[in-house]
Parts: sequence; structure tokens; C-alpha cells
Amino acid sequence: MAHSIEIPATASKPELYRELALQLGALLAGERDAIANAANTAALLYHALPDVNWVGFYFLKKGELVLGPFQGKPACVRIALGRGVCGTAAAAGRPVLVPDVHAFPGHIACDAASRSELVVPLLENGVLSGVLDLDSPLPGRFDEADLSGCQRLAAIYLAASYQAPAMEEER
Ligand code: SME
Repeated sequence: MAHSIEIPATASKPELYRELALQLGALLAGERDAIANAANTAALLYHALPDVNWVGFYFLKKGELVLGPFQGKPACVRIALGRGVCGTAAAAGRPVLVPDVHAFPGHIACDAASRSELVVPLLENGVLSGVLDLDSPLPGRFDEADLSGCQRLAAIYLAASYQAPAMEEER
């Protein structure tokens, strides 16, 4: 199955995220595997969103975040809750938007090119299962429209994906 990503370059951010929500829903339809769906979600966002150099997932396993499917350069595998941008978002259970990663105490630099970052927690009925992480080489790349758009996309991913019992046991 070839998936073409056709979004006009002139689309506003709300239009872009509306279109991406439709595309993601269609892409994940009929598939419940959480890893496969995370891989396709990361690939769609990485190729459709302008000015991103890393998009991917960390999943909560045995009390720490462990690297999941992603697009971009190889990244650090384990992040303790409360550490870095991802661990901060996970521990708080709320999104964290960082306009300048150099000004964020404890930021974990996986790709030296990253200048701004957005992390959205994956919450199912208030229970954390991981985070969706986006990095950009541009300072101030992400705003409130990206935040709400990515929260919507994370919700579509979660609704589509069955959390394998093995993954749940490891949380
Ligand atoms: N910068 C993140 C680490 C993950 S990478 O960006 C892929 C952080 O501070 O948590």
C-alpha cells in the first residue's frame, strides 16, 4: 500500500492538522498493533510537518520512558520520569512546549541540530502510556496550534491502537 501525503504548502496550521487527522485515521484504520501504528504515525508526521528533524514515541515501561518507533537520527533509549523534556511531560501528564531547548534545564540533546521541541503525553483515561515527541531545528517552531493539533493526533493514535498485554505488564 502506497500512502501519498498531499497537503498544500499554503495550508494554515489548523488546516494542516485537520487534514493530518483525517490521513492518520485512514492510515491506522483496521490496525490495532500499537508499535506498527506508532511507526506509521511517526512517519506521517515526519514527512508532512515542515521543519521537523525528529518525530517519535517513548513508551512507559517499568517506570521509565523507553524509545519506540521514530523518524530522525538515532536517539537516547531510556529517559527517567522527570528528566529532560520528555520525562517532564510524562511526569506532569501534560504537554511541554519548549521554544528554545538550550534554555530548558536538563534538556537531553539527542540531535545537536534540535532547537525547539514539543512533547505530548499519551494518556488513556488519565493513565500514562508514553509520549509523542517532536523536535525542530528552528527556534520557536511549535506554538499552541501545533500543541492542540498534536494532542488530537496522539488521541487518534491511542484510540486506534491496542496496547499489547506484554506492554501493559511492563509499565
Ligand atoms: N530532547 C528530549 C530527548 C529525546 S530526543 O529529543 C529524541 C528530552 O529532553 O527529553
